[in-house]
Amino acid sequence: MSSEVKPQPVQSAPPPIKKVPSPIQHTLDQIDILIRARYPILYLLTHEEARLENLVEDIARRQGKQLFIWSGTEGLIKHLEAGGTRVAVRSATPEMTDPNDVLRHIATQNTGGLFLLKDFHPFLEDPLIIRRLRDVAQKLKGTYKSLLLSSPRLNLPIELEKEITLIDIPLPDLSELSDLLKSLCQVVGTKDRQALQITQRDFHDLARAALGLTLTEAENAFSKAVVSDSKLTRNDIQIVLAEKQQIIRKSGILDFHQSDATLGEVGGLHNLKQWLKIRGKAFQQGAEEFGLPSPKGVLLLGAPGCGKSLMAKAVAQAWQLPLLRLDFGRIFSGLVGSSEENMRRALKVAEGIAPAVLWIDELEKGLAGGTSGQGDSGVSARVFGTFLSWMQEKSSTVFVVATANRIDMLPPELMRRGRFDEIFFLDLPRPAVREEIVRIHLAKKKRGNANVDLKPLIAATEGFSGAELEHCVMEGLFLAFDAGRDLTVADLVLAAQKTVPLSVTYVEELRRSREWASKRARSADEEDAPAQGGNRASRLEVK
Ligand SMILES: Nc1ncnc2c1ncn2[C@@H]1O[C@H](COP(=O)(O)OP(=O)(O)OP(=O)(O)O)[C@@H](O)[C@H]1O
Ligand SMILES: [Mg+2]
Repeated sequence: MSSEVKPQPVQSAPPPIKKVPSPIQHTLDQIDILIRARYPILYLLTHEEARLENLVEDIARRQGKQLFIWSGTEGLIKHLEAGGTRVAVRSATPEMTDPNDVLRHIATQNTGGLFLLKDFHPFLEDPLIIRRLRDVAQKLKGTYKSLLLSSPRLNLPIELEKEITLIDIPLPDLSELSDLLKSLCQVVGTKDRQALQITQRDFHDLARAALGLTLTEAENAFSKAVVSDSKLTRNDIQIVLAEKQQIIRKSGILDFHQSDATLGEVGGLHNLKQWLKIRGKAFQQGAEEFGLPSPKGVLLLGAPGCGKSLMAKAVAQAWQLPLLRLDFGRIFSGLVGSSEENMRRALKVAEGIAPAVLWIDELEKGLAGGTSGQGDSGVSARVFGTFLSWMQEKSSTVFVVATANRIDMLPPELMRRGRFDEIFFLDLPRPAVREEIVRIHLAKKKRGNANVDLKPLIAATEGFSGAELEHCVMEGLFLAFDAGRDLTVADLVLAAQKTVPLSVTYVEELRRSREWASKRARSADEEDAPAQGGNRASRLEVK
């Protein structure tokens, strides 16, 4: 018998397969539980009122409860009987259009049920209503009555923060969008059977293309696709995707980023690449069942021009996921409406589109003052808080790639465990990596001769970043073209000699960043080259 230890599986039988519910299913379950646990008031945040009515109706049916819906224009209307049947005659009590009256009525009514009050946020400015809601919350505790306030805006007065539970309603999932598309297909097919030219697979891809849109937006996009040529075909996927890109861009802070950068175009950063290779597998089929959690994301810190942004683009490409770029700076600039709502909406869209890569470039720019809460009555701090708790709690397959180069401007909360899966520090490239980077950029210019000796150039580019090496290649090409011959290594060396790398002026900051990173971040390049490696630090000292 061999004395070798055989690898043993930790568990002999595989664990039961656990399917992770979509964000909307998860939220509905959560609402269901809160109502059963007799939480008196829930605040349901969404732009999609009609969809919310349907969702609440489903919950009322599940629980066998009556459902009443109120609005300031129509008053209180009973929609469902306790058994779940629709009320045949919907008559409103006219005087019940007043929010005070309806709250008083709900508090005193004997029978239980769900009360959905639409667009209640403007009334939350009124101190009397706030007081009344506090009273109602007390009275409703322990009863079978639940108050659901729906609103497209978050406007929760501090007095009510402890009484009300906030629920952000996610965007539709694939099954809701498929239902919508199915009903559209039925309409189109009844009119003209020839108009439907899609296979089962096209149907699925078409529904998928609308992920990230509200139900109304998706309906409009599908309709546009049909109207354009009176047919529904596979080509309509492009129309829906283009419509989606436009809608998302309109939000002002989120953008689809098209890039064909590949991991092969990134020189060095071997540890980071290896880590990403393993993490990326969590998006593959079977990963969830195996027990892998969805990766949260990675924070890339480091000197300017070392490939942080490039890496974000390459990851999305390598994993074949859509790349969404979130402009943090614009969220805080106040240029695009309410910052908090914009942030929530952007995160919701990203979750709707998931699996996706959410790229937050130059995080620290948006965060300047974002955590102090000074100067803008704490809005920035709240927006940042929204992002942090989303990072902490998220279970969706949105992989965040955040980049930053001013480490000192990042708040410590961001670095806490549970936010990012890993923090990497991208240092200036060592000689072997410099060569790799130069060869990548030469190859891009169709000068990929592997035999050319680049030693003189590598020696002349001590302290150069990837971006500066790329610049040398461009500059060298100009020199060669000017001389009327093809590029030589001498051109590249000359270009390098003319370049003053940023690390010369940036030396103190780089030293501090390395010191910081050596304790808190992993080196993105070879493990045996510590982030603040002695020889590398001294290499950069200005002579
Ligand atoms: N490791 C690398 N391999 C290949 N090219 C690189 C590398 N690093 C940088 N480059 C080149 O430099 C360009 C700029 O790099 P990038 O924008 O990714 O830097 P960054 O780290 O995001 O800098 P900043 O902090 O200024 O945003 C890239 O588009 C790429 O052409
Ligand atoms: Mg960048």
